[in-house]
Amino acid sequence: MTWWFRAAALLTLLALALAIHQRRLAVVEKRNRELMDLHRQREKAQSALSLAYGRLRRLTRRLELAKEEERKRIARELHDDMGPSLTAVIINLQLLPQQPDSSDAARRITDTIELVDRLVQRIRDLSLDLRPPLLDELGLLPALKGYLEAQSERTGLKIEVRGQVEGLPGETEIAAFRLIQEAVTNTIRHANATRVDISVRQRNGQLVLIVTDDGQGFDVRDTMERASSGKALGLLGMQERVSVLDGEVEIDSAPGQPTEVRIRMPVEIPE
Ligand SMILES: Nc1ncnc2c1ncn2[C@@H]1O[C@H](COP(=O)(O)OP(=O)(O)O)[C@@H](O)[C@H]1O
Ligand SMILES: [Mg+2]
Repeated sequence: MTWWFRAAALLTLLALALAIHQRRLAVVEKRNRELMDLHRQREKAQSALSLAYGRLRRLTRRLELAKEEERKRIARELHDDMGPSLTAVIINLQLLPQQPDSSDAARRITDTIELVDRLVQRIRDLSLDLRPPLLDELGLLPALKGYLEAQSERTGLKIEVRGQVEGLPGETEIAAFRLIQEAVTNTIRHANATRVDISVRQRNGQLVLIVTDDGQGFDVRDTMERASSGKALGLLGMQERVSVLDGEVEIDSAPGQPTEVRIRMPVEIPE
């Protein structure tokens, strides 16, 4: 074997070793890139998760605050409003036997009846606020009609409810009731409207609620931005309630325009 043959064989071997090495290097680099990519994806997912956790924590805190506010309101109503009225009823009844003439007694009885009447009304309103009784007994539409008739009488707003539903699960019924209650309360409080139209229908396995008023409207985007910093809990609560049930809320409004709230929720027929 000549020296050049040996040198050529050595060179070929070296070249082969180099090629194998480079190939392995390329494979390792590729794996490295894939790992880095996975690492980046993981970091992204982690930061999205921690943002979601933060949002959830803030929401839970706000919902707890809202619940506490509601309890405070009920406690105040019982203590400041119903308590004194009941005391007045007791005093009237205690004084009744001591009334010298019957016209004084009659006035006191009329006064007491008025007090009791007002108390009955307050208790009815409060229990309606806490849980609409007709909902369990008669279903969504009669419960809504009962509630909205009372609101219409109280505020002078013309409220019309149309639609038909059947076989709704209890969870969807109470959600629909609360959502319409919030939308109508908003119209009463903020819209300066003369009428509200409510439609409740089932279409293609979905419950569709539409609340339209002829009021002054509002800037939806601006309000929702304030909502995420904790200002407008009502609309945020509506969105949360609907998203838990895999539905969606759309609000069409602008200053000087009427407002339309559309809600869609899938309806699962209970087994
Ligand atoms: N139907 C409506 N018409 C006019 N403005 C509305 C209506 N609904 C909501 N808004 C506006 O959106 C804001 C946020 O509503 P919401 O989240 O329910 O909070 P709140 O009712 O406690 O103010 C209201 O303060 C009001 O300015
Ligand atoms: Mg509200």
